[in-house]
Amino acid sequence: MASQVDDKLLLIPGPTNLSMRVREAMAGPQLPHVGAKFYAMFKETVGLARYVFKNEKGTQFVFTGTGTTGMEASVVSLVSHGDRTLTLMNGYFGHRMLMLNQVHGAKADQLEFTDGKAADPDTLRKQLRKEKYSVVFITHVDTSSSVINPVPELVEECSKAGVLSVVDSVCAIGGVPLDFDRLGADIVFTASQKALAAAPGAVLIACSPHAIEHMEKRKAPIESYYMNLLKWKPIMDDPRMYLATPATQVLLALREAMTELKEEGIENRWARHKHLGELTRSTVDEWGQRFVAEEGHRADTVTSFWVEKQNAGAIQETLEKEHGIVVARGIYDDRDRMMRIGHFGILSVEVLGRALDSMGSVMKELGAVPGDLVQQATRKK
Ligand SMILES: Cc1ncc(COP(=O)(O)O)c(C=O)c1O
Repeated sequence: MASQVDDKLLLIPGPTNLSMRVREAMAGPQLPHVGAKFYAMFKETVGLARYVFKNEKGTQFVFTGTGTTGMEASVVSLVSHGDRTLTLMNGYFGHRMLMLNQVHGAKADQLEFTDGKAADPDTLRKQLRKEKYSVVFITHVDTSSSVINPVPELVEECSKAGVLSVVDSVCAIGGVPLDFDRLGADIVFTASQKALAAAPGAVLIACSPHAIEHMEKRKAPIESYYMNLLKWKPIMDDPRMYLATPATQVLLALREAMTELKEEGIENRWARHKHLGELTRSTVDEWGQRFVAEEGHRADTVTSFWVEKQNAGAIQETLEKEHGIVVARGIYDDRDRMMRIGHFGILSVEVLGRALDSMGSVMKELGAVPGDLVQQATRKK
């Protein structure tokens, strides 16, 4: 597994460090989006995306965009004005999904799970009995709180109730088990810059045959050009067709990153991320810090914890200046009191272990962690 190849180690929840192979894949001459070389590369990339999602039965999309493109394309392609939708929220990205539903004219209901709680399938079941929804939106891992939701159980409730389900797996796929064909969700999407370890700039979306049928049969037309999944569908089968110029260099990086992922094996990749998650959580625990996410629902891709004394900014700055390690803080209101460590992609357990030692010493230096706890954490690794 690649070790640190850059001058800075990125432990933010995306974008993440790139391997030399991925960097070199982007560094060649500009690849045009016409010609046999691009067509073959694109088809291979879509095939690799199928491998990553375990999507044999549905349509696989890959196009230029970000995670937000995946969010908005799902909403606009499935939801018509006046449809009643339900968004499960346990953090910032759940809120964004709700907002996108509102922007596109849905009667957008929400079920909010606060204080680091995961979405509860029983609560969802009760809500689905009370109200008829067309689509339920679920975040797999909310990157702000690090909560991982019980996606299979939540999707099952939706399937039982005959409601379409959309899973935002931007901070999960590649690092957390997901089998699209078995899951039964209608749309699952991710972005290139997180656990897939490619550069930002590509969105990857898996869509069930049922979701495609829903789009084809909807009465009101899809109110978007670029984010209309029906417009992209023929291009996935035949990349010689033109809709918009693809970011070809980004796709080259994505193909290389997913080739590396396949060489490692998706199950091995999940297992490595499980180790990364466990190491981070045991270290944060030994530092005596409080996790944002409740126990049993802490993700293997990102860890958020509260810090005392409003000193998240000082920890972040010192760690970067003295050790070349970049970690993230909380979003908006939580900026000064929350730290977030992204641990995904090509990161090895050894590199992460050393980085956590450095972080522990910075936190000790700044008085954010009692010294004896840091020593204990370092010793145990
Ligand atoms: C869970 C989740 N959803 C959606 C997004 C939005 O992705 P992007 O910033 O690539 O648009 C992010 C970004 O971090 C995310 O973590």
